[in-house]
Amino acid sequence: MKGQTILVTGATAGIGRHAALTFAARGHRVIASGRNKAALTTLHAQSPQIDVVQLDVADAASLAEAVLEVDRLTDGRGVDVLVNNAGYGLVGPLMEISDQKLREQFDVNVFGLMSVTRAFVPKMMQRRKGRVLNVTSVSGRISLPIFGAYHASKWAVETMSDSLRMELRPFGVQVVVIEPGTIRTDFAERSRREAGATPGQHSPYAPVYARIDAAAEKLMAQAVGPEVISRAMLRAIEARRPHARYTAPFHAKVGMYLVKAMPTWLTDAVMSRMTGLSRVR
Ligand SMILES: NC(=O)c1ccc[n+]([C@@H]2O[C@H](COP(=O)([O-])OP(=O)(O)OC[C@H]3O[C@@H](n4cnc5c(N)ncnc54)[C@H](OP(=O)(O)O)[C@@H]3O)[C@@H](O)[C@H]2O)c1
Repeated sequence: MKGQTILVTGATAGIGRHAALTFAARGHRVIASGRNKAALTTLHAQSPQIDVVQLDVADAASLAEAVLEVDRLTDGRGVDVLVNNAGYGLVGPLMEISDQKLREQFDVNVFGLMSVTRAFVPKMMQRRKGRVLNVTSVSGRISLPIFGAYHASKWAVETMSDSLRMELRPFGVQVVVIEPGTIRTDFAERSRREAGATPGQHSPYAPVYARIDAAAEKLMAQAVGPEVISRAMLRAIEARRPHARYTAPFHAKVGMYLVKAMPTWLTDAVMSRMTGLSRVR
């Protein structure tokens, strides 16, 4: 499984950027995509063997152009591996999130991911060989309050990946889920920019925001770097028979299974206390 042609979405920053550099250093041919042209140019300058293509996963016109560009770069062959990594996290209590914001979250994390998949997988199906890596999150297996929109989008990708894995197997295309725990990137800050203003001080949830911001900062400071995810992705790309899921780092996997093993009343109580929700009136 060496020398694969790999398309990465959301490769202008964080996990996607690190993965693109790691795959290229390993000898794979990488096509890094993203919205931010300047960031793509910088990536190409840092690693000239990486090709870059502009792609906003939530924009049909941008996707159509990217498909043509990838066809040009691969002489019409397409890619061997698609890494669906682009995404952001909408934060807020579900009662205060507008339909529009919720739709935007799903447009990128769910519909965008599926549009990109439908655009690049048919050539893998024709060749009877290929791999799709869908980046979800530990947040796609367990749920915290205040992150409901993000959790829902990642749970959606988890369950669609399960169906897709079975649907594409007859065509030789393997579908793998990558589930990061907390990884040190600009995810929180970028997500805040992407999602826009949070509810004001008159919201009954206002104190929870402050607490969550502080907790997020603390978590990020203790988090591991994106290399653990690049390594998990490489295993998923190069294994002869990849697992259905790769959860990393290991302590995130342990934490996730512990939470899943707890009764709902207990997880509700612990998470409400952790987020300060138990004091909201
Ligand atoms: N960091 C974590 O703790 C963590 C944990 C679990 C899962 N994840 C998942 O891992 C993936 C990468 O996250 P990260 O931590 O690397 O975050 P990040 O540093 O914020 O990077 C996110 C990437 O997605 C791109 N993106 C956002 N919307 C896009 C769109 N509409 N079209 C194309 N690209 C878009 C961003 O590009 P722009 O530069 O154009 O904004 C950026 O390159 C996400 O799916 C995230 O949900 C992250």
